[in-house]
Amino acid sequence: MGKIYKIGVIPGDGTGPEVVNEGLKVLKSASKKGGFGLDLTTYDFGGERYLRTGEILPDSAIEELREMDAIYLGAIGHPDVKAGILEKGILLNLRFSLDQYINLRPVKLYPGVDTPLKDKGPDDIDFVVVRENTEGLYTGAGGFLKKGTSDEVAIQESINTRKGVERCIRYAFEFCRKRNKRKKLTLCGKTNVLTYAFDLWERTFKEVSREYSDIETDYAHVDATCMWMVKNPEWFDVIVTDNMFGDIITDLGAMIQGGMGIAAGGNINPESTSMFEPIGGSAPKYTGKNIINPLAAISAAQMMLEYLGESKEASIIEKGIIQVISKDIKSLSAGKMGRSTTEIGDLVAKYVEEDG
Ligand code: IPM
Ligand code: MN
Repeated sequence: MGKIYKIGVIPGDGTGPEVVNEGLKVLKSASKKGGFGLDLTTYDFGGERYLRTGEILPDSAIEELREMDAIYLGAIGHPDVKAGILEKGILLNLRFSLDQYINLRPVKLYPGVDTPLKDKGPDDIDFVVVRENTEGLYTGAGGFLKKGTSDEVAIQESINTRKGVERCIRYAFEFCRKRNKRKKLTLCGKTNVLTYAFDLWERTFKEVSREYSDIETDYAHVDATCMWMVKNPEWFDVIVTDNMFGDIITDLGAMIQGGMGIAAGGNINPESTSMFEPIGGSAPKYTGKNIINPLAAISAAQMMLEYLGESKEASIIEKGIIQVISKDIKSLSAGKMGRSTTEIGDLVAKYVEEDG
């Protein structure tokens, strides 16, 4: 028996539990195959628990999760809970508390998947966004003055520290080198308007780049990045950017790779506990119908194994995903797949077991 990985599982809200079940099914097949163990601890944090008990995410749970090898998350967000409470209280709280300073989002079009981009295929759409995940507009810095009056002021500040920016940029250079594709790193910013924050980003990027003479560097404003992602996605290899811009461009990225049904991400702390999730959200209208696409959650499981060092099983899962897409389903969209959520999980698990 190989290693035993301690995984904290947070199925969360809406369709989260359904897709996490399928991801776990596939992980179990991979663990049998790879000879490693999974020690799973499930936590019921999310909207239901909050509405029942008022509890969001106690500090004691954060400390328990800190001791895990990884966290596997379904989705956070409940229609009966005011926007922001669960997102900040659970998802952002974990990202910040566990210092998961990288949000890693691969944008990869698999063969046979429809992209809305005309004349673009898998060779053109294959890049990774490295999003800073603990600073920028997400820290909650700011506040109101004279709230509710006609003199109201609302301030939301973007916090960018040299340390935070530099570790993100370094991670991106290292990642780009290891990925070994086009060896090109693009900084996505807004140096023409955000002349403090992105001045720091640009200076740091240039300085760090001197240590990576094997990596070609490039810069694009965030608006232009959106344009190029649609017009010439093949220009990109790895993109590094701040938290807010990363949030926005990765939804665009998800759309060009076939939609939320396939898009996954990792919240990475390279020195400690990382967390993996499908990025589609809780999709309340599809909840409980067994029609949501679990492939994004299965991709997140694949990323988690890669991160844990089980690269062989990770790539077997990816092969399984590609097989299901090419042989078994009609679409990646919920309700149009021609297969149920559980059937897709079964199929990927079966391909993983049969591999080799
Ligand atoms: C994401 C999500 C979150 C974010 C929300 C749910 C807080 O959109 O992971 O991209 O903005 O980071
Ligand atoms: Mn987002």
